[in-house]
Amino acid sequence: MTGSTGQLGTPTLEALIAAGHDARGLTRRGGADAIAADLLTGDGVDEGLAGIDTVVHLATTNGKKDLVIAEHLAAAAVRAKVTHLVLVSIVGIDEIPLSFYKQRVRIEEILRSSGVPLTVQRATQFHSLVDSMFSAQRYLPVVIAPSVRFQPIAVDEVATRLAELALGSPRGRVPDIGGPAQRTMRDLHAAWRAATGGKRPAVGLRLPGKLFAAYDAGVNLVPGEAFGHGTFEDYLAAKYN
Ligand SMILES: NC(=O)c1ccc[n+]([C@@H]2O[C@H](COP(=O)([O-])OP(=O)(O)OC[C@H]3O[C@@H](n4cnc5c(N)ncnc54)[C@H](OP(=O)(O)O)[C@@H]3O)[C@@H](O)[C@H]2O)c1
Repeated sequence: MTGSTGQLGTPTLEALIAAGHDARGLTRRGGADAIAADLLTGDGVDEGLAGIDTVVHLATTNGKKDLVIAEHLAAAAVRAKVTHLVLVSIVGIDEIPLSFYKQRVRIEEILRSSGVPLTVQRATQFHSLVDSMFSAQRYLPVVIAPSVRFQPIAVDEVATRLAELALGSPRGRVPDIGGPAQRTMRDLHAAWRAATGGKRPAVGLRLPGKLFAAYDAGVNLVPGEAFGHGTFEDYLAAKYN
């Protein structure tokens, strides 16, 4: 598993090991359950994938370098005769006009075109991301809460799902998963403010154009019965109480 020391990789690797599977991580740092390799330079990646059947790809730099990482991983997976690649991705990336999301679409394409049988699980934003969107504004007199809805999900629930997919056969793109409720940023901010003891009010933000139109259309959401159960309040209580 790549990215096994990350916020999603840690519980995913734990879930696989706890279930008795011979799983190991691959990160630059390495560690007890992980091999040290650098997906950006390619150093150590072939050695890291030797003898591996299934690769769960969760490594990220949160930027453009992830394209190079995906290319290196795809090529190494072919050389290692990997039989299943599992990729986590993000809901709505092909419909939301953000350059970061265009990169995520490209990463899906890179892994798909490797020819290694693939499973792609798109998920909505983790609770921690919403938390950091508010926390990052600590030096502003108000908190800007764009007039959009999110459906944040607990990272542990995504991890459980990825572990399950890794143990199954390749399935192509599987149904998207999201958290228990679709909520406005103002509503999420109210919960965050109550949990963190903040006093600053939220100020809405709306812009014309394709970006807000996409969010208005709800392409970042997962309609129907919710996959996730853990609420943003559960996350906040665990972190801030
Ligand atoms: N945050 C969200 O709301 C959200 C929602 C849906 C999907 N996702 C996706 O979930 C995935 C995991 O995100 P995360 O938040 O768990 O990431 P994270 O906490 O930032 O962890 C990143 C991981 O990548 C590894 N890494 C970075 N550069 C590397 C390199 N050059 N070579 C090898 N390993 C490298 C890091 O380990 P070392 O530093 O040890 O190398 C670390 O284990 C991402 O693909 C993200 O797009 C996130």
